[in-house]
Amino acid sequence: MKTTHRRLALGLPALFTLLAFFALTLAGGWAIAENNRVTFPANLDSLVHYTTVKRGNVTEHMLTSQAAIDAVKKGLPVPNGTHVVLVDYRDSKVFRYFVMEKREGWGADYEPARRTGDWQFQHFKADKTVNMSETTARCQSCHQGREDKQHLYTFGDLERFKPQ
Ligand code: HEC
Repeated sequence: MKTTHRRLALGLPALFTLLAFFALTLAGGWAIAENNRVTFPANLDSLVHYTTVKRGNVTEHMLTSQAAIDAVKKGLPVPNGTHVVLVDYRDSKVFRYFVMEKREGWGADYEPARRTGDWQFQHFKADKTVNMSETTARCQSCHQGREDKQHLYTFGDLERFKPQ
């Protein structure tokens, strides 16, 4: 009886510490990890490369659908289902993919103050899996500044784009 008590006394605090550790790790993980509805575009290879931005050893290729380009040129909202992809190359190798995807009603997943229309944002690693240490609120807060351009920084490039 005595030994059982002693074992319990030692065992319970250890168990609680372990549980608290896991609870904190999970909670912390969720606070940073931002899994949302954005999917990696299955049709990446058929998207149109409409502009390139170079900065030092970084080369960014911007890709989207022909339908989105046509809409921008006509002054219309890009269609629901649009992906816009920024392929970030470092020294000619894919380093990561930044993806924006727009679908009807997706804005409602967020507080109005955080919303970027119906766009959601995601950071995919070079292996096309989600980078769970990215806070996509950061993406949104920056791209909110482009509300008048459908949240797109390279909106002007889409308007001017001419296929080769
Ligand atoms: C500090 C501001 C800032 C943050 C944060 C930011 N972006 Fe951007 N984003 C830009 C700018 C500026 C461009 C235009 C290209 C350039 O100058 O590199 C851009 C371009 C893009 C593009 C190409 C379409 C467009 O808008 O021109 C995508 C896609 C994109 N960002 C996704 C993301 C994602 C996903 C995140 C978060 C993981 C993110 N961005 C975070 C400023 C930002």
